[in-house]
Amino acid sequence: MEIQEVFGLYEGDLKRVERYLEDQQQSYIQLIPEIANHIIQSGGKRLRPLLLLIASDLCGYEGKRRYSLASVMEFIHTASLLHDDVIDRADMRRGKDAANRVWGNSASVLVGDYLYSKAFKMLADDEDPAVQKLLSTTTTTMVEGEISQLVRSCSIEITEKEYLSVIERKTAVLISASCAIGAILAGAPESDIEALARFGMRLGMAFQLTDDALDYVASEKEFGKTIGKDLTEGKVTLPLIGAYKKSSPEEKELIRKTVEGKNVLNDDIAGVIAVINKYEGIGYTLDMADRFIKEGKAFIGPFKDSTPKDAFLAIADYVVERRL
Ligand code: FPP
Ligand code: MG
Repeated sequence: MEIQEVFGLYEGDLKRVERYLEDQQQSYIQLIPEIANHIIQSGGKRLRPLLLLIASDLCGYEGKRRYSLASVMEFIHTASLLHDDVIDRADMRRGKDAANRVWGNSASVLVGDYLYSKAFKMLADDEDPAVQKLLSTTTTTMVEGEISQLVRSCSIEITEKEYLSVIERKTAVLISASCAIGAILAGAPESDIEALARFGMRLGMAFQLTDDALDYVASEKEFGKTIGKDLTEGKVTLPLIGAYKKSSPEEKELIRKTVEGKNVLNDDIAGVIAVINKYEGIGYTLDMADRFIKEGKAFIGPFKDSTPKDAFLAIADYVVERRL
């Protein structure tokens, strides 16, 4: 199955999710829907809602709760992006001006808080302690991930293991929860919930690894961001960690001072990117993403053949194929 087919199959369901997103972001404070709309309507793929819908299908749940819970996943994700763009002082998000650039940091953080609180109100209304517990742990973990990244920012000392732990927490846990919740809704056996959680975790790892690789290859037009943005933010990701290990002492010194943001010259960013290319840091990262996808697919293997299973496999391929 191709990814377009997956979106086609779930078009009707995703439209219902859109209606929830639209309704739930309303407030008498006009600035809230204004900012929320700006980011929610900026062409996000709705990956997390889609995963929840597919997981519930795979496990045999067709009830209404999946729409509100799919919206909860998108609200939490959107809240985290609003906050993340403030932390990263981002200029753009998905090819548009980032909300913090248009409305400032305070408004962005507060609308992020609003969406996050709305998500937990919807969870309270849904009245399922298992889902509530999973999502409260998930969001706590996400914040821990962002904080450990912050603590490690502008330092080339970060190890590959620490980097992987950061991306697991900041990105993969929410994707994992999206898959697990679909199974929880269906009242699936613990082993199935666990298998989907593990599939989602690997998918999330591959997703962030691909994102971190694309940061060094995609043009602004193609991906809505500037090349080497992570580097200028002092964010050390796997393409750089991989290349640094193989670098000469002079190259190591260039990388260190660029990451630390000390006396950075115009050519230094380009110099570091050249070192990453020389030691194939991007290929190294994409290979690791491929391995996570392979591992993830293995957790789906035991489920009996079905359309939702094919849809999951297509998404797994798509995550690592969106190379440019
Ligand atoms: C994007 O990473 C950001 C995340 C994956 C998660 C951000 C999480 C938080 C701010 C903490 C949790 C907050 C809430 C409200 C639950 P990136 O900066 O590497 O990617 P980018 O290039 O898309 O900005
Ligand atoms: Mg960011």
